Amino acid sequence: MKKSWSVILSILLVFSFVLAGCSSDSSSSSGGDSGKKSGKDDGKGATLDIFSWWTGAGEEDGLKALIKLFKDKYPDVKVENAAVAGGAGTNAKAVLASRMQGNDPPATFQVHGGAELNEGWVAAGKMETLDDLYDKEGWKDKFPKDLIDLVSKDGHIYSVPVNIHRGNVLWYNKKIFADNNLEAPKTFDDFFKVADALKSKGITPLALGDKEPWTATHLFESVLLGTLGADNYKKLWTGEFKFDDPKVKEAAETFKKMLSYVNDDHSSRNWQDASQLVGTGEAAMNVMGDWAKGYFSNDLKLKANEDFGWVTTPGTDGLFMVITDTFGLPKGVKNPDDVKKWLSVLGSVEGQDAFNPLKGSIPARIDADTSKYDVYGKQTIEEFKKASLAPSIAHGSAAPEGFSTKMNQAINIFVTQQKVDQFVDSLKEASSELKK
Ligand code: GAL
Repeated sequence: MKKSWSVILSILLVFSFVLAGCSSDSSSSSGGDSGKKSGKDDGKGATLDIFSWWTGAGEEDGLKALIKLFKDKYPDVKVENAAVAGGAGTNAKAVLASRMQGNDPPATFQVHGGAELNEGWVAAGKMETLDDLYDKEGWKDKFPKDLIDLVSKDGHIYSVPVNIHRGNVLWYNKKIFADNNLEAPKTFDDFFKVADALKSKGITPLALGDKEPWTATHLFESVLLGTLGADNYKKLWTGEFKFDDPKVKEAAETFKKMLSYVNDDHSSRNWQDASQLVGTGEAAMNVMGDWAKGYFSNDLKLKANEDFGWVTTPGTDGLFMVITDTFGLPKGVKNPDDVKKWLSVLGSVEGQDAFNPLKGSIPARIDADTSKYDVYGKQTIEEFKKASLAPSIAHGSAAPEGFSTKMNQAINIFVTQQKVDQFVDSLKEASSELKK
């Protein structure tokens, strides 16, 4: 593991140089100055630079609401929104790796609960424990135990979850479905029937925007979950279920078939551009995490359950692909007390309810005010309580960065070449990165 971790860091470092020119977001109002020293002291106290990838459409509204709440409570703390554009941390993770490697951590940064945090920054010895903060705030019974486990390693807690996103959501354009007398698909068979009916009418069945390859990984992991079920899907990450199992090949075949229904210009679109096709009626369906709900509602001004509808992705009824965005306290920052103030705001009921209704996610806390959430949020809060949870690969929970980097590469090649056996072999090869 150690060896592969250093290889990944080196790759990320190279990327970070390439990306240095695009690290701040031109399309957003974020501070975006990732080069600033964390806790930079200009004589008036250190800056709280909050590092994330939440810039631009559908992403930044929740963060801005949270920062506003923090500033109202702590007007004396200097805050910098140091977000770096790019969905799922495409660019931010490389910039972060370079800063961490150079012992210049941001005061606090967005990190997915699960392997990305635990096998990544915690294992590298870069994070402070937050056990005291959880005790002080009385949080240990305020977050679901499964979630606390995702942000813990060797009995210590390392970050605070601000949300829970659901990954396995199929969004659809209600008007297209009504006009064509179609029902949202529940199974893969339903999906292909609906897709054929749409295609015969000249409508693009499935929107994809894999300019950033993670979106294709996101689609594939939902197919994997729908084909394997939660138990076997989870066993993939512990080595108890093998990538050469025929079921993995079946998932790859299904994924390949799905790709024959996507928009021709998928490789030049990002996730928002793909969701937009569904919002504007240029495509019928899109598989995306529920940050797409934030985008539909806040940016496209569409109405949940009127303009757009949702179902779980084929075969995943009762299953919940969990993605949790969390923030922690890196070692070596100048202003740990300010960071803890930030963490206590984002972990509070008030903080979670300021952030999540805008972000499209549900609160990570179990005692949030559900009246603040729309019809999608209320339904998802209820479903989360009963569902079997599965960790996302595309969003860092299931497997360490070494595996997901290789998987993204394999998927990228598969989308253009569509060679199932070669793809499954690449996944098998990548699984050597998994902790056994
Ligand atoms: C995920 C993240 C979400 C959202 C999404 C798209 O990795 O957890 O909060 O930002 O990427 O960028």
